Amino acid sequence: MHSQVTQRLTTDTAGISQAAALLGQGRLVAFPTETVYGLGADACNDTAVAKIYAAKDRPSFNPLIAHTADQVAAETLCLFDETAHRLAAAFWPGALTLVLPLRAGSNISRLVTAGLDTLAVRVPDHPVSRALLHAFSGPVAAPSANPSGQISPTTAAHVMAGLSGRIDAVVEGGACTVGVESTIACGPIPKLLRAGGIPLETLEACIGQPLQQPDDADDITQPNAPGQLASHYAPKGQLRLNVTKPRDNEHYLGFGRVQADLNLSPSGDLTEAAARLFACLHQLDAMGAAQIAVAPIPDHGLGRAINDRLSRAAAPRETS
Ligand code: TXA
Ligand code: MG
Repeated sequence: MHSQVTQRLTTDTAGISQAAALLGQGRLVAFPTETVYGLGADACNDTAVAKIYAAKDRPSFNPLIAHTADQVAAETLCLFDETAHRLAAAFWPGALTLVLPLRAGSNISRLVTAGLDTLAVRVPDHPVSRALLHAFSGPVAAPSANPSGQISPTTAAHVMAGLSGRIDAVVEGGACTVGVESTIACGPIPKLLRAGGIPLETLEACIGQPLQQPDDADDITQPNAPGQLASHYAPKGQLRLNVTKPRDNEHYLGFGRVQADLNLSPSGDLTEAAARLFACLHQLDAMGAAQIAVAPIPDHGLGRAINDRLSRAAAPRETS
């Protein structure tokens, strides 16, 4: 993609209307959500959505989430079953994405679903994304606003570091509070597709039954899995996980009361650790850390999403 100037927009009315106007012109605008920054485009405009894939270098089989201002708008795009209604009522707006059958006649670009007959929808809970979605008044396709395979952005500065010159604008709305991407679930037999900002236990308590677990994420040919690549969220350095004794040559990313170069949460709080995860990985990059050892993170609640992201960040990757 040609190099261009990326505008930095404010979160006041003028900034939001400018962002909505750019979306209406088929341009790419990054904006904060409570989970991570999204790279938004008009979800009904093929050319605009194609630009997302180009700016991120995203494999085209990996479908995108459509963001709407509210559940009513989401229901114009997808068919909600009873479980979906219950989950949406409990967690929207919020860090939950539902994958549901696409409604016939919806104008969603086929590039958003990557040709699937289902659509991922989410109503984000962040004042800036909500204001933008209201101002634009149509669905906005938005993956995380980072080059494909790299660390997700939780500040506007992260977005600029990865995509400056490749996108039209970023709305500068401060740091994201949740810090990991949304939990993704689908029905009608409820299934977890991606651990995320709302813990599995919380979803199960809401619907009163266990969710099926994700498929083997190594199968990257299966977009339904969902199409998460094995190597993802990766910093430049190599990660070694579940380490209690770091080696001399390693930077140590701690959790809880340990001596470490950086600590996700000195008090051992998983919510704080999720919020800080990507910022810490960005910071380790900035420190030039080549070898990174990560302390064990408990695998419950938000720890599940943190461990999912860490194991993808540690996965073998293509050298290019
Ligand atoms: O928190 C989030 O979800 C952020 C913010 C910006 O909303 N977005 C985000 O998008 O994480 P992205 O594109 O990085 O991840 C979307 C995930 C992918 O793993 C994709 O495979 C899955 O959603 N997905 C999208 N549509 C799907 C579908 N129809 N079936 C199964 N998985 C789907
Ligand atoms: Mg992503």
